[in-house]
Amino acid sequence: MQDPYVVIGNPIVHSKSPSIHTAFAKQTGQHLRYERLLAPLDGFVQTVDAFRQSGGKGANVTVPFKLDAFALATQAGNRLSERAAAAGAVNTLKFEADHVFGDNTDGLGLVADIIHNAGVTLRGKRVLLLGAGGAARGAMLPLLEQEPASLWIANRTLSKAQELQQIAQQFSPHSVVKVATFTALSGPFDVIINATSASLHDDVPPLPTGIMTSSTMAYDMMYAATPTAFLRLAQASGATCRDGLGMLVEQAAEAFYLWRGVRPDTEEVLRSLREELQAVSLL
Ligand code: ATR
Repeated sequence: MQDPYVVIGNPIVHSKSPSIHTAFAKQTGQHLRYERLLAPLDGFVQTVDAFRQSGGKGANVTVPFKLDAFALATQAGNRLSERAAAAGAVNTLKFEADHVFGDNTDGLGLVADIIHNAGVTLRGKRVLLLGAGGAARGAMLPLLEQEPASLWIANRTLSKAQELQQIAQQFSPHSVVKVATFTALSGPFDVIINATSASLHDDVPPLPTGIMTSSTMAYDMMYAATPTAFLRLAQASGATCRDGLGMLVEQAAEAFYLWRGVRPDTEEVLRSLREELQAVSLL
C-alpha cells in the first residue's frame, strides 16, 4: 500500500513536485505516491478534506493557496510550526489522525541551497533581501537563524518592508534587521536574494550601482531556462549567480523529511532537473 501525497494548486499542471518526490521515494525506498491536485479557487478546504478522507497523508501547497493552508492550520485543534507562523503562510501539510499540522519549508530550502549546495556561509555576512511580499517573509526567519551580521530588507513600498522588520523582531528579537527603498541602499553586500516577483516580468528592481561586487553571491528565488533579468545584472557585476531551482528541491526535501522522517539526497535530483531545464532552453 502506497501512502498518498499531493501538491495542491491552481494551476498545477506545470508543478515539478511530483517528479521530485517520486525520485526521493525511489531513492529512499519509501512506499508513497505523489500526484498533482487541482483545487477550485474557492474550494481549497473542501479539496483538502476530500483528499484526507480518502487516505491522504500529506500535501504541499502552492499558489494561490498558501494563505488558505495557513488559515486551516491555525483553526482550533490543528497545529502550526513556528517558522510557518513567522512566514504567515503554509506550504506543507501533514495529516495526523486527530489534527492537521502546517509547516513552511520554503525558507529552509533557500538556506539549505545557499549553505550546502552553493557552499556559502551566511553567518556574520551582510545579507540583502529584495522584496517584502510572501516570498521574502517566508525567507526571513530561516535567514536570521543563520546569524548574519545584518539583514537588510529593501522594497519598492517601504511600509511593507517595515512590517516585515517588525515581524522579524518579534520572532528573532536579537537580530539586526534594517529596511530601505532600493535607491537608498548602499553596498556592497555579501549575499543578495531577489524575492520580488519582478523576474516574472523579466524586470529587475532599480538597484544602485556598487551594491554587488565580484565577492557577492546573487540569488534569485525564481528560476527559468535562461538567466533572469536580476541574474543578468548580477553577472555583469561579476557576482556569483544562483537561481531558485535548488531551493525548490531543498524545500521538497524538508517536506519529505517532515512526512517520512527520512532525509533524501538532493544532489542527483537537482542535477537531473537542471538538465531538463537546460534542454528546454535549447529547444
Ligand atoms: P510573492 O508571494 O511572490 O512574494 P507578493 O506577495 O505579491 O508576491 O510580493 C511581490 C513583491 O515583489 C513585493 O515586494 C513587490 O513590491 P511592492 O511591495 O512594492 O509591490 C515586489 N515587486 C513586484 N514587481 C516588482 C518590480 N517590477 N520591481 C520591484 N519590486 C517588485
